[in-house]
Amino acid sequence: MSQTPNIVRSASAGSTSNVVRANVVRSSAVTPSAVTPSAVTPSAVTPSQRRAQQLDPTDSTWWRNAVVYQIYPRSFADSNGDGVGDLGGVISKLGYLELLGVDAIWLSPVMRSPMADHGYDVSDPRDIDPLFGDLAELDRLVADAHSRDIRVAMDLVPNHTSVEHPWFAEALAAGRGSAARSRYYFRDGQGPDGSAPPNNWVSVFGGPAWSRITEPDGTPGQWYLHLFAPEQPDVNFDNPEVVADLEQTLRFWLDRGIDGFRIDVAHGLAKAPGLPDMDLDTAIVLRHTDSDPRFNNPQVHPIHRRIRAVVDEYPGAFTVGEVWVDDNAQFAAYLRPDELHLGFNFRLAMAAFTVDEIRGAIDNSLAAVKAVGAPPTWALSNHDVYREVTRYAPDDSPEGIAIGTDRARAMLLVELALPGTAFIYNGAELGLPNVELPDEVLQDPVWERSGHTARGRDAVRVPIPWQGDTPPFGFSTNPHTWLPMPPEWAALTVDAQLDDTYSTLALYRRAIELRYHRDEFSGDAIEWYGAPKGCLAFRRSKGKLVCALNTGPNPVSVPPGDVLLTSKPFVDGRLPGNSAVWLVSRKQET
Ligand code: GLC
Repeated sequence: MSQTPNIVRSASAGSTSNVVRANVVRSSAVTPSAVTPSAVTPSAVTPSQRRAQQLDPTDSTWWRNAVVYQIYPRSFADSNGDGVGDLGGVISKLGYLELLGVDAIWLSPVMRSPMADHGYDVSDPRDIDPLFGDLAELDRLVADAHSRDIRVAMDLVPNHTSVEHPWFAEALAAGRGSAARSRYYFRDGQGPDGSAPPNNWVSVFGGPAWSRITEPDGTPGQWYLHLFAPEQPDVNFDNPEVVADLEQTLRFWLDRGIDGFRIDVAHGLAKAPGLPDMDLDTAIVLRHTDSDPRFNNPQVHPIHRRIRAVVDEYPGAFTVGEVWVDDNAQFAAYLRPDELHLGFNFRLAMAAFTVDEIRGAIDNSLAAVKAVGAPPTWALSNHDVYREVTRYAPDDSPEGIAIGTDRARAMLLVELALPGTAFIYNGAELGLPNVELPDEVLQDPVWERSGHTARGRDAVRVPIPWQGDTPPFGFSTNPHTWLPMPPEWAALTVDAQLDDTYSTLALYRRAIELRYHRDEFSGDAIEWYGAPKGCLAFRRSKGKLVCALNTGPNPVSVPPGDVLLTSKPFVDGRLPGNSAVWLVSRKQET
């Protein structure tokens, strides 16, 4: 999460089914309506109905080529009217997710937490926070999801606990040099009275990375390290108890049927030995570099091997790490066969809508994993970075957002044409933009910690609009949702989009369905195709699938092939600006 320039910027302002065949249209004879998503109305038959069997327990590598949907539970659906989303809400929307056709969901943290960082501050890693429900409800969610052929991954937060974790209370009470303090990074301060922090590290959220405690006898005491908020003390993985506890947590959830974990701050679990000072010139809120002593230290790898050893006891379970590491060789090290199954490569989520940036991000992400044989991962957004509609919009005007929406739709086709695992952040399938929120409702700790210089990530966490004409759009029965919802989202609700065959939701459904069923979406490699200026095109599956993207303003001719799907209607048989197309080769494979 630590390289999110967009958020910082915000401070200043199988086989071919009959159904599919029927929708294949010759590109040479295209008419605008024939190649729009309207021509490919999602069928009423859901992917799971079409599958011969329920979730296949013998398929231990499903995650290599999956579509994973990220749910930010506070913002997804509220079942108890408190204005905050919960597990009951997720359960009530599983039919929707089945319709969307995703293979798995990843739940941002739902463990017990005082919510200083909305669940990324965990006080009990082996329980569900009452705000979201309870363990029985999670069990129901997992059973129901599995019966719909949807796997469930949880977000695991091993780098830090909450200050309300019993370990932290023990550490405060136990005093200097105690075993309880060695589960964290407690250090004496510098200077004669220890009033200066142990080193110069700053928090990713802004301000110092150290806070001073008061010792049990009332005197000013040691300092503890928190790379994020003061409510999130970093744990010390050199302490065997910390590793053992993490293993217990992994087993606890895996035994309940959880299919995997997204590992928070996977690149930060080990700090540089001796905690040397950092280069403050590179210290920007929510950002860091590879050489930063706070992150990406070699001792992180044995920790990932311990995690993998446990996860491997559960065939089919997987991990995906949050790995903000730029250097490809160093990134790949996290994905060696005995470490993480998958690593988030955020380049596509950071790339501007230009051929150079998009192609660079794709080439880099493919190259980064090649050496270790791990699948690449793709994401256009998540709960920490700009939503793609806003990121691609030339400005925040309605016209600008409309262009951003066109581009986001095009990029979905690019993302889903690529080999590997695709992650979709809830709301992206509705084409939601960021929301400009007033200062007084901002909740992300980044806003306060940065001294109101960085607005943080609330803009991308506004609740999902489900139905109706006015907020809260069926998200909750309570009009006071935890973040306010903009009235103009009436046109973007799930209900409105289900009824509209041109909608972004319809495009997502169709694209996911095609990706799932068509043989052309196979193979590990892509091949770049010649393309006019402002365009890119790549082939997949021995050339059977072509994905072409036009980032320019004017329509262009497309390579030969039958049109499978376009993000925007063709204009006189040509691919319009800000749009993409999937084509299938007319040649039989040789
Ligand atoms: C990760 C999460 C982010 C959270 C931080 C601290 O970067 O993605 O949302 O604030 O870790 O846990």
